[in-house]
Amino acid sequence: MKSADIRQAFLSYFEEQGHTIVPSSSLVPGNDPTLLFTNAGMVPFKDVFLGRDPRPYVRATSAQRCVRAGGKHNDLDNVGYTARHHTFFEMLGNFSFGDYFKRDAIRFAWTFLTEVLGLPREKLWVTVHVSDDEAERIWKDEIGVDPARFSKLDEDNFWQMGDTGPCGPSSEIFYDHGPEVWGGPPGSPEEDGDRYIEIWNLVFMQYDRDASGEMHPLPKPSIDTGMGLERIAAVMQGVHSNYEIDLFQYLLEAAARATGHDDTTTPSLRVIADHIRSCAFLIADGVLPSNEGRGYVLRRIIRRAIRHGHKLGAKGDFFHKLVGALDAVMGEAYPELREARHQIERVLHKEEEQFARTLDHGMGLLEEALQALEGDTLPGETVFKLYDTYGFPYDLTADVCRERGVALDEAGFERELEAQRERARAASQFGADYGAALDLEGETDFTGYERLEDRATVLSLIDQEGNGLARLLPEQRGLVVLDRTPFYAESGGQVGDTGYLELDGGRFLVTDTQKQGGHHLHHGVLLEGELEVGAKVTPRVDPTLRAATVRNHSATHLLHQALRLVLGDHVQQKGSLVTPERLRFDFSHFEPMTAEQLAEVERLVNEQVLANAETRIEHMTLDEAKAKGAAALFEAKYAEDVRVLTIGADGFSVELCGGTHVARSGDIGCFHIVSEAGIASGVRRIEAITGEGALAYFREQEARVARLGERLKAKPEQVEERVEALVERSRSLEKELERLKAKLASAAGSDMVNEAREIKGVKVLAKRLEGVSGKELRGMLDQLKNKLGSGIVVLGVADEGAGKVSLIAGVTEDLTGRVKAGELVNHVAAQVGGKGGGRPDMAQAGGSDAAALPGALESVPVWVEKKL
Ligand code: ALA
Repeated sequence: MKSADIRQAFLSYFEEQGHTIVPSSSLVPGNDPTLLFTNAGMVPFKDVFLGRDPRPYVRATSAQRCVRAGGKHNDLDNVGYTARHHTFFEMLGNFSFGDYFKRDAIRFAWTFLTEVLGLPREKLWVTVHVSDDEAERIWKDEIGVDPARFSKLDEDNFWQMGDTGPCGPSSEIFYDHGPEVWGGPPGSPEEDGDRYIEIWNLVFMQYDRDASGEMHPLPKPSIDTGMGLERIAAVMQGVHSNYEIDLFQYLLEAAARATGHDDTTTPSLRVIADHIRSCAFLIADGVLPSNEGRGYVLRRIIRRAIRHGHKLGAKGDFFHKLVGALDAVMGEAYPELREARHQIERVLHKEEEQFARTLDHGMGLLEEALQALEGDTLPGETVFKLYDTYGFPYDLTADVCRERGVALDEAGFERELEAQRERARAASQFGADYGAALDLEGETDFTGYERLEDRATVLSLIDQEGNGLARLLPEQRGLVVLDRTPFYAESGGQVGDTGYLELDGGRFLVTDTQKQGGHHLHHGVLLEGELEVGAKVTPRVDPTLRAATVRNHSATHLLHQALRLVLGDHVQQKGSLVTPERLRFDFSHFEPMTAEQLAEVERLVNEQVLANAETRIEHMTLDEAKAKGAAALFEAKYAEDVRVLTIGADGFSVELCGGTHVARSGDIGCFHIVSEAGIASGVRRIEAITGEGALAYFREQEARVARLGERLKAKPEQVEERVEALVERSRSLEKELERLKAKLASAAGSDMVNEAREIKGVKVLAKRLEGVSGKELRGMLDQLKNKLGSGIVVLGVADEGAGKVSLIAGVTEDLTGRVKAGELVNHVAAQVGGKGGGRPDMAQAGGSDAAALPGALESVPVWVEKKL
């Protein structure tokens, strides 16, 4: 049976069972930032499972193109080395959205395999999740599977598409390729062999996992199944490797011709035949090779294929020549592939040319490193250097090492990589670099000093990986660039504005605004409508949040000046963050501020707020600004023409600043410092709040005192006095408790004295105590010695949970000539896995074996008897 016929038989069977046939979606998941690629048939239905995307059907079936490379389900490194792994494959699936559940899903799958495809039951093996007795019953009692060909597994039978999203226990069906292939059934130590191959996974979708890992029940239990077309085709075509099926034969032959190597079972040829499928489809779906995100994974796959070609002796560029062969085998089923054929060839060819240069150079360096290698592990730093400095991919180094039998210091490489990421994070405060996609001249005209609403034209749209887009669709995230905008882009410590871009019949929610070159990038998500390049929009800044931010920014200027007045001119700004919620100001100062200084700073700022002076904004040359005494950051670069802000009465604060500010200082409302702390040597940090934020804070404090009052049955003004009295009372109760404890212990001590045994006329007491801390042992020992007058005592306590034993031994003065406490305690300690020491009359020890304590204590009289 040909692959195409199996695909068709599957869809038809489920259509007959009331399922709607849904065409394959793109490999790039629509509006799902949690997922790199469509990696399973259920991905396009994710929101349907979650109950967020109602569809006109409750049963669906599809043959979905999938890529598993990068991200949670990543098979890249196995491709070419096993009979069944691919970067690209087609997944046949049937889905129920709150309609049928386990019983029908199991019945459909079994009927399709055994009746439609006619597979013998004794070649199949079934697994379910360890906890799933219901599925077990259905399989065994209703379907009648052989219990000897059935197992219950743990995590192998739980499926989730990513770190978050729909998930649930599953039941898998395996096909036994026969004893001539090495391998064992699922759950056995040999399960990784190629004999038993999973062909169908039935997922009983029941939960939605959130980012914290917590699982919430889905609105309705649902079904998601997946059967790899290539695997079932291998079964149906009587071959044991997927690479021997019809879909691959033609590709392998084409790859053999292109590389000049004719053994089609060589792993490298299989790698190439697999990779051309994922690369071509990814490009057809709009992904381009790059150094980030999806584009980076594509680049890695292309480069891996190219290197395998070179390994086989391919001369020059060969990879792009395989697109024609792929079109011949798959173009019929996937018209989008046929349509994009020339574009795919161009992209691959260009990438091949570029990589040829990298490869020559990198291989030479890797050879040198391997020649010079002492030992059998290639150090992580070498791998990283090849990768970072010469662009030589990690998995290629890993491949070469694998062929040479050299291990690779993966952990070392990861460490270097992490260190580099750290450096990159520190270097770029804006995260991703969208420069490449922003092929725009000039800059955005910022109108947000004067207004919060404007009329503008969309100049450019970019997705989160930085790829240019012609349009955004509803719920799609992206970045919008306008010709003019009132949205302030984060800079000078002030965060970017938020709000909406209103469009005809829709809205784009702006969650942040950042600057790239001279352009303001509006980050966010399209809520409704369609947004196209060239469209007219009305950008509207959230007025409440902007006003709150502005209050905090202006208050920062006043705070800066107040600090200089109170602490001195050495105060310099070291950092600042202004958000709608609060302001954070870092400054140079060498000791913690006193409560009085803080109160004075706060008073000075509020005095300026109350003065309600008009803010003055002037443009002048840098020299003029300096002459005016304007505060500026030493490190910052300023243009010749600068913006100078004067805030407060009589020029209280004069600063260079590009931020947005209050019109009058009274707009700040009020100012309150919430914390002051050191963050580095000689640098302090103040956090403060203003306006509404400050009022909310005061209200909360007041409510807290009121709540305390209720608990204490006191009026707010009596709370302090009442707490004082409580503290006093608890102190005297503690003292009382100590006294009673001592009294009890002494009484217990008298009892214990009676337990002492007489050995050769000497009183010997060895006892395990409960509920006594190691520290209290010392006092008890002294008491017992006193009470005995003359004698030998060993006390032990054990904490079974922590595996901890504490021992103490005491010998009264008159006996220390005959028995030494140190020797005694060591004798006991040795039996509980410890050791100790001390004086002849008192010694202590610890141990770890709590269970051995009773036996060890019992041995004391015998030991003492020998010594006496
Ligand atoms: N989503 C399930 C899988 O990919 C069926 O195995």
